[in-house]
Amino acid sequence: LEDDDGVGDWSAKYVVKRINEFKPTKDRYFVLGLPTGGTPLKMYKALIQHYKAGKVSFKYVKTFNMDEYVGLPRDHPESYHHYMFNSFFKHIDIAPGNVNILDGNAPDLAQECLDYEQKIEEAGGIELFIGGIGPDGHIAFNEPGSSLVSKTRVKTLNQETILANARFFGGDMNLVPKQALTVGVGTVMAAKEVMVLITGAHKALALSKAIEEGINHMWTVSALQQHPRTIMVCDEPATLELR
Ligand code: F6R
Repeated sequence: LEDDDGVGDWSAKYVVKRINEFKPTKDRYFVLGLPTGGTPLKMYKALIQHYKAGKVSFKYVKTFNMDEYVGLPRDHPESYHHYMFNSFFKHIDIAPGNVNILDGNAPDLAQECLDYEQKIEEAGGIELFIGGIGPDGHIAFNEPGSSLVSKTRVKTLNQETILANARFFGGDMNLVPKQALTVGVGTVMAAKEVMVLITGAHKALALSKAIEEGINHMWTVSALQQHPRTIMVCDEPATLELR
């Protein structure tokens, strides 16, 4: 697409199409994996408009978010709980009980991660997992060097990610949590379909590593080369490094 507006519009239309073709009912929910971050905000905005125009309903949709910071209070303005309800869920007809977001304040974080995988399985697996990537090629918070078969777990964020996310914390790196709970590369790979949103020249190197070089755990998004149904939705600046 030409720019990030185009990416937001295209991806929202695709989600609407997939949900409507699936025809979810109370016995057969559409299971959607969702990211946070700056990139998907335009998609969420467009999805809210489609919902308000009566083009889609989220009544029989279950969602699973990719990740959540460890130790940030749930009502902190930068928690992913806060982000999701504020930017998307409170504007649509999803039942709060159908929303799943990892609890970064759970007393037993390892157990929280195991339970999350179990919940995804009980929901029948993820139909469409939407993701974003970091400039270092991370998908969810699977930082460079993560296992490509990893499942949901605690990860320590690397310096580059902390620096990139400091913009959400008044530019202060010290306020960015150092750990997150995240789905694994294997969790994303297990989805029936994956759609990754990539915008901006600062993601151009990551996109080229993702699709034009070999599969490499230092660029974890490259694992998707072995997924049978992956869509990379990009704007022009993100494609600058492609051959
Ligand atoms: C967010 C997530 C991250 C972001 C990535 C890009 O849930 O898992 O992988 O998608 O860090 O973030 P933005 O869109 O802010 O550039």
